[in-house]
Amino acid sequence: MRVVSGMRPTGKLHLGHYIGVIKNWLDLQNRYECFYFVADWHALTTKFDEHIDLRKYSIELLKEWIACGIDPEKSNLYIQSDIKEHAELYLVLNMITPVSWLERNPTYKDAMLQEEYKKKNNAGFLTYPVLQTADIILYDADLVPIGEDQKPHLELAREIVRHFHFLYKSEVFKEPKELLTEIPRLPGLDGRKMSKSFNNAIYLDESDKEIWEKVRKAKTDPARIKKTDPGHPEVCIVFEYHKAFSSPEEVKEIETACKEGSIGCVECKKRCAANIKKVVEPIREKKESLTDDYILDIINEGNKKAKEIASSKMNEVNKIIF
Ligand code: TRP
Ligand code: SF4
Repeated sequence: MRVVSGMRPTGKLHLGHYIGVIKNWLDLQNRYECFYFVADWHALTTKFDEHIDLRKYSIELLKEWIACGIDPEKSNLYIQSDIKEHAELYLVLNMITPVSWLERNPTYKDAMLQEEYKKKNNAGFLTYPVLQTADIILYDADLVPIGEDQKPHLELAREIVRHFHFLYKSEVFKEPKELLTEIPRLPGLDGRKMSKSFNNAIYLDESDKEIWEKVRKAKTDPARIKKTDPGHPEVCIVFEYHKAFSSPEEVKEIETACKEGSIGCVECKKRCAANIKKVVEPIREKKESLTDDYILDIINEGNKKAKEIASSKMNEVNKIIF
């Protein structure tokens, strides 16, 4: 079974990415043939006007994946824009995809309600899921690990595959299936969605001091004013972090102590920060030890393998069409 997934290089990874995406990738690389790529063309669909150094961002992202334990010996790592077949297949798929399918895509409709995207309104943004489809079916992916919000994109991918097969009377592609993680989304420290724009995230390269400063200010159960006030861990953000980073025994212990008012929030937060540090510190250190040259070698290797598969698939496709 082959797994394909990508991530856009739009900035540093935070704990939400680690818990929600990377940990899942780590598990998958031990069970399947995994193709993980940096979706830099996809980053352009929203950032074309920001003139960021995308190659630098891509290298940083690869460093973070590898620092987290993504193993280039097990997983194939490459960069989308280095494999031109993604663009070639994207073009072909755009020819057969009705605009109405894209306009009713929920992620597109949601984005168009936001001023920021509405005013850009670029064609590439509308066709984002078509490029994503190309990313996936170029490699005959069986499984695609994604978040809940990306489910409509996988449905579209299957529709596009079936439509191509119907139009060209050939079964050249595989219909991909999504692989949803059961892990609930880790909230930001203020209880809102974790996001750079809300400044409520802890990043994988932050120092122990920065981690503590952020956890210290996290929102807790407002009912707890004195240490002896009985608390409600289920409404507390810090408790969500304990569930993600502390051992099951410690989580149980914290839960009981909070409910009976025998632990103060400051102590609870200190223990939480300590457990986050235990995860972040080795990642931070590993990342610092990785050189750009090492990453460029990894990219070269990964690109080579990706290119081989992608170009052979594109040959088949072109034979069918022309
Ligand atoms: N759209 C995905 C996201 O924002 C990134 C992505 C691009 C992707 N191409 C993909 C994910 C192909 C899975 C498969 O998270
Ligand atoms: Fe939250 Fe811990 Fe305070 Fe309970 S003791 S409210 S879990 S920070």
